[in-house]
Amino acid sequence: MFPTTILTTLFLALAVAANPILINRSPISLPLSRRLNLTSIDNLLKHDQARAKSLKTAGTGGVFQSAAVVNEPITNQAVTYVASIGVGSPATSYSLIVDTGSSNTWVGAGKAYVKTSTSVKTSNSVSVTYGSGSFSGTEYLDQVTIASGLVIPNQSIGVASTSSGFSGVDGILGIGPVDLTVGTLSPATTSSIPTVTDNLFANGVITADEIGVSFEPTTVQSIVNGEITWGGTDSSKFTGSINYTPLTTTSPARYYWGINQSIRYGTSTTILSSTAGIVDTGTTLILIATNALTKYKSATGAVVDNATGLLRITSTQYSNLKSLFFTTNGVTYELTANAQLWPRSLNTYIGGTTSRIYLVVNDLGSPSGQGLDFINGYAFLERFYSVFDTANNRVGFATTPYTTATTN
Ligand SMILES: *[C@@H]1O[C@H](CO)[C@@H](O)[C@H](O)[C@H]1NC(C)=O
Ligand SMILES: *[C@@H]1O[C@H](CO)[C@@H](O)[C@H](O)[C@H]1NC(C)=O
Ligand SMILES: *[C@@H]1O[C@H](CO)[C@@H](O)[C@H](O)[C@H]1NC(C)=O
Ligand SMILES: *[C@@H]1O[C@H](CO)[C@@H](O)[C@H](O)[C@H]1NC(C)=O
Repeated sequence: MFPTTILTTLFLALAVAANPILINRSPISLPLSRRLNLTSIDNLLKHDQARAKSLKTAGTGGVFQSAAVVNEPITNQAVTYVASIGVGSPATSYSLIVDTGSSNTWVGAGKAYVKTSTSVKTSNSVSVTYGSGSFSGTEYLDQVTIASGLVIPNQSIGVASTSSGFSGVDGILGIGPVDLTVGTLSPATTSSIPTVTDNLFANGVITADEIGVSFEPTTVQSIVNGEITWGGTDSSKFTGSINYTPLTTTSPARYYWGINQSIRYGTSTTILSSTAGIVDTGTTLILIATNALTKYKSATGAVVDNATGLLRITSTQYSNLKSLFFTTNGVTYELTANAQLWPRSLNTYIGGTTSRIYLVVNDLGSPSGQGLDFINGYAFLERFYSVFDTANNRVGFATTPYTTATTN
């Protein structure tokens, strides 16, 4: 215990030294609402595979074509995470998809952009094509309010004049690596557009250029069950410590949140030898290269279910189902048997049958050895806390209170 006088002195010293502009240096968290839209039976797997294909295509030939293809964040999207973001002063609130696989932030798909005294039109037009969706419009500088205390006075944002493939949302909050914005402006510039995370860090609002993401397994269709933290991590959302792995140097995985990882089934069955892939909030399933999926099928006895496109196992096979072990940078994360199941209470939402058991591991749609051989999607991220650390070029994972939950 400090004597009161010392505390008072400390307080006064701090008060004198304090920046007159009040900024909050603690990590700030924002709730994420999960929306599950599975109105078409084919959506789930096809959406994920289409996204995987466009993510891979973007890096073809060693030349990254970010303006051509980034990903497919919304069209027929099975799972989206939406946050309410303010733009302008007074702020208009927009529902934006939070996407780690793209980096332009833009509004105007649904609710029209409302100009205020903080809106500054630039001379650039902007255009991004995402798989089967797209937007184009004009780039503005405006004040963006992510949450109370997380205000960016001068954020470059797109304002869509046309968009396709976006229903029920107003645009995207792009929190992928900044290089994904190169080539999206016209007249063309070689520079990137700082992301909201970059600007918060550059302005000193957050002291670490990183974000922490928490998803929890859910068995209901629509719920607030995610949280994104800027400038740090939320220790109430994970257990133990966060282990980091450097971003991979392998293309095209390195254009995203890419890491090297190997996957094992049970104690000794190799499913995928160490290779590059990505961590992605926009993919619902865990996708692995076709040849790896063949090994997983034979290890588990799973068959392809024609109605859903997912793998299916019997209850006997489920009782024998072993954990999948994901190893990255020497640390292994165990995805339990229950965590490999699609939530059974949601079977009918994907065109399945209530009594059946479907798996969340599926086919990337291409063989291994192409520089992006797996995607750790939502099914993985709802079991492990994730950290996207721009400053140190690394991704972190930690176990959570839900890692071994048997909610499925
Ligand atoms: C759900 O998906 C269907 C078909 O893709 C689409 O027509 C509908 O607008 C979507 N609903 C929402 C709320 O996004
Ligand atoms: C606002 O940002 C733009 C580009 O990001 C930059 O050119 C401009 O100088 C900034 N203005 C202020 C006042 O910081
Ligand atoms: C990842 O794997 C590739 C291919 O084996 C290797 O070249 C690279 O050094 C590994 N590590 C990183 C951080 O990329
Ligand atoms: C599932 O689809 C495959 C390939 O299209 C077909 O050969 C098989 O007969 C179908 N199975 C059922 C039960 O419909």
